[in-house]
Amino acid sequence: MDDPASLLTIFGASGDLAQRMLLPSLYGLEADRLLPDAFRILGTARTEMDAEGFRRFVAESVRRALPAGDIDADALRRLLERLAYQPAAVDDAASMDRLGDAIRTAARGDIVYHLSTAPRWYGATCDALGRLGLGGPGTRVMLEKPIGRDLASANAINDGVARVFDEGRVFRVDHYLGKEGVQNLLALRFGNVLFEPLWNARHVQQVQITVAETVGVEGRGDYYDEAGATRDMLQNHLLQMLCLVAMEPPAQFEAAAVRNEKLKVLQSLRPIGAADVRAETVLGQYGPGAIGGQAVRGYLEELGRPSDTETFVALRAHVDNWRWSGVPFYLRTGKRLPRRTTEIVLQFRPVPHSIFASAGAEVLPNALVIRLQPEERIELRLMSKTPGLDRAGLRLSDVALDLDLHEEFASLRRRSAYERLYLDALENNGTLFVRRDEVEAAWRWVDTLQAGWTQAGMRPKSYPAGTWGPSSAATLAERHNHAWRE
Ligand code: BG6
Repeated sequence: MDDPASLLTIFGASGDLAQRMLLPSLYGLEADRLLPDAFRILGTARTEMDAEGFRRFVAESVRRALPAGDIDADALRRLLERLAYQPAAVDDAASMDRLGDAIRTAARGDIVYHLSTAPRWYGATCDALGRLGLGGPGTRVMLEKPIGRDLASANAINDGVARVFDEGRVFRVDHYLGKEGVQNLLALRFGNVLFEPLWNARHVQQVQITVAETVGVEGRGDYYDEAGATRDMLQNHLLQMLCLVAMEPPAQFEAAAVRNEKLKVLQSLRPIGAADVRAETVLGQYGPGAIGGQAVRGYLEELGRPSDTETFVALRAHVDNWRWSGVPFYLRTGKRLPRRTTEIVLQFRPVPHSIFASAGAEVLPNALVIRLQPEERIELRLMSKTPGLDRAGLRLSDVALDLDLHEEFASLRRRSAYERLYLDALENNGTLFVRRDEVEAAWRWVDTLQAGWTQAGMRPKSYPAGTWGPSSAATLAERHNHAWRE
């Protein structure tokens, strides 16, 4: 392993993501003494602040994000001692020069830049770093999603970054890849002999991937209205999960091997264009409704203007290769759904012949349910005999072989996605980051979808907040004799 980076420079350090996720994750690493000894963190943003102001901001962010009992005063103090701040705006060369000086003062070795600003600034930021002589070997850059809004704009951004950072030094974040449960999917598939022989079209009838959120768009309306559920969630988080479910076994758990396999899945996705969008996809937008008994406003009321942006998308995708031929992958994600859940379900095929048919017992197909959020658990749905004397014939019940990973590993702290991703980027390990060709393949598929919606004149259907999207989402599966697991 290379020496870990000596400096992390966060662009957008006063932003929402920094407050909610990045700074609390750095605290988590500090608390467990996982940050390198002389490691420094330099925050930068347009916001005028001095180092003291930034320390206060970081302390408040950590206190807001973590329960008071989880915060160790000494660890927080150690974190604050590592911090510096330099205001800068990428379109103000003098301020970038000052930032350059601050970077040079703080660095003792490799540097990681984390761009957590609007992606349209990525190219210019990298150019400025190049101009300052701060983008050479020993530097790497982490990029937040969404990279662009289509293939062309993603290419423009990626080209801008590539002028300074070669691909091996670019770490594109998809924070779902940093989640414990998402990686556990790989452990489950490739650390056991039980599942892999069944993990194909011969035995799997359909796959479902759901990322349901109860939150609305809150203060992020301007960003979200440009993106919509497709660009915000489907293009990245859902497609990445689909890749991990569908990919062939990589030879090693290593960056090139894993990413090569994911890319092949993205390249095998059957395009869904204008002729198919009405049959294979559903778009929704939440109206007023209730979540957990609380009345909530509709998307348009939150936004304060008319909009055709989708807050829900569901579709039936196909991975056209030998392993998955004919198996539908149902994907859905939305805001203001009834509960927060991220779940992957593999529904197996029915038994070829039921010996219990004459007794009238129904044999349901097995299912493997991998729940990633809010709690991590793996459930294998099996048929079991219902206890009893069965004078009127054997009865069967659908039961769960249930592994609660929180209970199983109760003594181990759950790591936030960014704790792992930061450590990996500091240590120059790109396995859990997204390579440029993956981003491009994902956009290519999403571009076809978006163009299809436009050509077909498809607009989102309204659904009441607190429901599972427009009723046509249920029909999408029912038409094929399938049903979403709810
Ligand atoms: C982000 C999206 O990438 O993921 C948000 O921009 C979404 O809209 C979030 O809420 C969901 O992440 P998590 O970790 O809460 O499931």
